[in-house]
Amino acid sequence: MFGSALGRNPLSAQEDAMHIQDETPEQRAQVHALNRAAFGRDDEADLVERLRADGLVRLSLVAQDDDAIVGHILFTDLPTQVDGRAVRAVALAPMAVDPQRQSAGVGTALVRAGLACLARDGVEAVIVLGHPAYYPRFGFSAQLAAKLASPFPGEAFMALELAAGALRGAAGQVRYPATFGIDEAV
Ligand SMILES: CC(C)(COP(=O)(O)OP(=O)(O)OC[C@H]1O[C@@H](n2cnc3c(N)ncnc32)[C@H](O)[C@@H]1OP(=O)(O)O)[C@@H](O)C(=O)NCCC(=O)NCCS
Repeated sequence: MFGSALGRNPLSAQEDAMHIQDETPEQRAQVHALNRAAFGRDDEADLVERLRADGLVRLSLVAQDDDAIVGHILFTDLPTQVDGRAVRAVALAPMAVDPQRQSAGVGTALVRAGLACLARDGVEAVIVLGHPAYYPRFGFSAQLAAKLASPFPGEAFMALELAAGALRGAAGQVRYPATFGIDEAV
């Protein structure tokens, strides 16, 4: 559980019974079902399986309420360079909250717990392709990501520095592993 490691409880009073913890192998089927329910299709749930199988997972957290998995967030290694300098970066993708439990702070708790854990582990930057109205509240910035060549130009492509100045520089690049199934992937 990451709550105590964060230095403060990230959960609202309403979510007191919820725990954020590392996903266990026994929870994988529930995580698959949760991603399918949240996205209304299989693509993201199947992507999680492929990223695991390819050994790319850096951190996989679940929000657990009693025996139920109500949220999931995945971070995977993402080769990144700025001005020819390698940056220790991860991609945040996907994340999902049970449709019955959305807009109650579960996603926020997962993001905060994940970022705290990654920072502790020495990860320098996090990249996300996601809702432009959601991720900036955690410090993600499309402006910061704009210098990074990627298959995803635009405001949905955002970056966050966990180590100050990690993405400082003129120009860089992220290279999504082929597992993501992105055209320009390496
Ligand atoms: C996006 C998602 C992970 C957010 O988790 P959550 O637990 O519902 O979010 P929280 O309770 O922490 O935060 C609620 C805020 O998120 C916003 N939000 C939720 N879904 C959003 C979306 N699709 N786009 C933009 N903002 C969204 C809410 O409007 C709310 O904003 P407010 O605080 O300004 O009122 C969740 O809604 C979800 O699983 N959606 C379906 C799958 C998905 O889109 N995953 C993310 C892919 S980038």
